Amino acid sequence: MIIVTGAAGFIGSNFVLDWLAQSDEAVINLDALTYAGNLENLASLQGDPRHIFVKGSIGDFDLVAKLLAEYQPRAIVNFAAESHVDRSIHGPEDFIQTNIVGTFHLLEALRAYWSKLDGAAKDSFRFLHVSTDEVYGSLGKDDPAFTETHRYEPNSPYSASKAASDHLVRAYHHTYGLPVLTTNCSNNYGPYHFPEKLIPLVISNALAGKSLPIYGDGQQIRDWLYVKDHCSAIRRVLEVGRVGETYNVGGWNEKPNLDVVHTLCAILDELNPRPDGQPYKAQITYVTDRLGHDRRYAIDASKIERELGWKPAETFETGIRKTVQWYLDNQPWVENVTSGAYRQWIDKNYGANA
Ligand code: NAD
Ligand code: TYD
Repeated sequence: MIIVTGAAGFIGSNFVLDWLAQSDEAVINLDALTYAGNLENLASLQGDPRHIFVKGSIGDFDLVAKLLAEYQPRAIVNFAAESHVDRSIHGPEDFIQTNIVGTFHLLEALRAYWSKLDGAAKDSFRFLHVSTDEVYGSLGKDDPAFTETHRYEPNSPYSASKAASDHLVRAYHHTYGLPVLTTNCSNNYGPYHFPEKLIPLVISNALAGKSLPIYGDGQQIRDWLYVKDHCSAIRRVLEVGRVGETYNVGGWNEKPNLDVVHTLCAILDELNPRPDGQPYKAQITYVTDRLGHDRRYAIDASKIERELGWKPAETFETGIRKTVQWYLDNQPWVENVTSGAYRQWIDKNYGANA
């Protein structure tokens, strides 16, 4: 079996659903259930013995040690993190605690477990650390896309904390020989995406008749990848990735934010027209820019394609349409998420009228 941390979150839950759709290898899901953890994402696995949920933190050495001893997994995939840049600007502390200190404790528990394995179990064990392209910093308009050798230049507390965790993972391989793999992926979108991030926020605000907030001039560029393509890349790296290597994962889909929002509005106009006949783009509102806002991210995904034969299945056009359709089909999920802690966050970030 494998341990997947943070598997009640956006990408982790997609990963577990896809994993169990293709294999009977059981998954231990270790998740602290922060505001971003939502077991409803995994409701279809209720009663399925292949999914074992454990509420707890990657920073809890004793708990992780106990899980490792009890389940003897062959691999860990580490998604657990604080993941939202805006939250890291408002309050960096949790990011330091989970992404840096938490990863450190996880690595320590793993080192103790792995060093006592022998033979084939020790050789074949893998720790896959899921990271982000944001560790590389911001690109100029004409700069080439990030390769794996691009220097780390993180600009937000979020990306700095992820960069620190990547360095720890690297050091545990170099120093102790821990069999690690790291993936640095571009912006994901798709089902179960928490509506604090651009794409799900715009879809849910559009449907609720609220404003669609564009930070600054909306010309910041992100490189978008459908979440299930990220999951297939992780499975591929876990299967055949070279130990100690990092792999950039992306879909060659650079888009300015404003274009993304216009595309979402156009799809919604077609699939779910406003009752008043007006276009959804009428709801677009320009708001104050994010502090230290990175201008452009772009991933050069040629290494993973060349070495591991991985390619995304979706284009932006097919993936974004599926995503809008998923949100239209899953309104109760959105309503449940947009209550409670999420509400307080929206008020703090966008003001009480959002
Ligand atoms: P998310 O915020 O939706 O989910 C994070 C999950 O981790 C939640 O279920 C949360 O409860 C859990 N968690 C938080 N702290 C924990 C702790 N201390 N112990 C155990 N669980 C904890 O995040 P996501 O978007 O699914 O991202 C998952 C991973 O992928 C993160 O490491 C993120 O940096 C990385 N990543 C995300 C993107 C993206 O576009 N979302 C892109 C590249 C990489
Ligand atoms: P986000 O989804 O938060 O991802 P990240 O910051 O990790 O790239 O934001 C994507 C882009 O959209 C980013 O440039 C910030 C911008 N953005 C807005 O313009 N308005 C919003 O309300 C949000 C949440 C993001």
